[in-house]
Amino acid sequence: MFNILKIEKNKNNLHVKWSDGKESSFNYLWLRDNCPTAHDKDSNHRMFNILEVSKNLNAKEFKINEEGKLVIEWSEGNHTSYYDPKWLKENCYTLKSKQKYISPYQLWNSSLEKNLDLISIDHEEILNSEEGLIKWLELLHYKGIAIIKNTPVEKESAFPVLNRISHTRQTFFNTPFEVINVPKPNNSAYTAHALKNHMDLPWFETPPGYQFLHCLINSAKGGDSSAVDGFAVANYLRKNEKEIFDTLINIPLKFRDKDYTQESIRSFYGTAISLTKDEDYNDIRFSVATMDTLDCHPDIMDKVYKAHHRFGNLLHDDKFQIKFRLEPGDIFSFNNRRVLHGRTAFDPNSGHRQLQGYYMDRDEILGKLNFLKK
Ligand code: OGA
Ligand code: ZN
Repeated sequence: MFNILKIEKNKNNLHVKWSDGKESSFNYLWLRDNCPTAHDKDSNHRMFNILEVSKNLNAKEFKINEEGKLVIEWSEGNHTSYYDPKWLKENCYTLKSKQKYISPYQLWNSSLEKNLDLISIDHEEILNSEEGLIKWLELLHYKGIAIIKNTPVEKESAFPVLNRISHTRQTFFNTPFEVINVPKPNNSAYTAHALKNHMDLPWFETPPGYQFLHCLINSAKGGDSSAVDGFAVANYLRKNEKEIFDTLINIPLKFRDKDYTQESIRSFYGTAISLTKDEDYNDIRFSVATMDTLDCHPDIMDKVYKAHHRFGNLLHDDKFQIKFRLEPGDIFSFNNRRVLHGRTAFDPNSGHRQLQGYYMDRDEILGKLNFLKK
């Protein structure tokens, strides 16, 4: 499978025929840059600098040696490289480019509401087993949502389970941030008002990738939660309302932090939906509360507002959103740049409500999952 049958020399690359019939081309600069001697053994950083060879670099001589390695004597720099064919096959960009992209995301809609078990996981399981930790990380990465059950309800008691993944992301709201109603609130979350489905901190260049809302007390009337898969709504628009979808991926909206306690003006332009290099969903940016006064070109303002209006309505549509009530000991965990969250108003005179919130970067979730599954 990793045996090379035949090699042909071209102007810019070596063309390889494999024993399984597959064919690959390997560019000279790419090969030289990935010579196994290019990297430091300890730091794994590349010590070789491709700028040391010219753009005309090519293979002066090449062969397969007794060990089955591809040996290339380079046209300049007095260097010979030895490549393991297994490594070449596994890193072959010709073959990779032919593979169909498969999205890791499992999109969901309101039918998830009847199956919350699917996204629930016990606190003990995560704390005491790697399987539990992996299950939580997979829910976060694939579905963008998980509810941890039976966490202690002491203040800051979400740290041990979060630290199973990594460090949290600090913001000026502090870690954890206190979601309680206070006089003269600097954020609508710190009131008893309803919060429409939103993401937190869309006015950052990179808003926190994940959010964790740990419920300590929820005895007040009201204060029920909602969540919606923004990727699922984006996907619906891509399939059914392409013009609106195109507006949402192409025209940046403006967001701004309105926090009166801050000696900083934080503002960012970003599209409502952004895509990855594979045209999969990357980020959703949506918050009615902190979208700034838009200043796009007059020719497109109407189109932009109507697309925003349609997207916002779908993000609150009962076909897409789920509703549930957090219990003390729950940690509602979600991808903050995919799953939008909200709550109904509550009556602070009827009881108490207290959540503590934490953020974490997406890199930490995906990095830990990749590490545990490698
Ligand atoms: C928040 C928030 C939801 C809630 O603090 O950002 O959205 O249920 N809170 O209070
Ligand atoms: Zn929020």
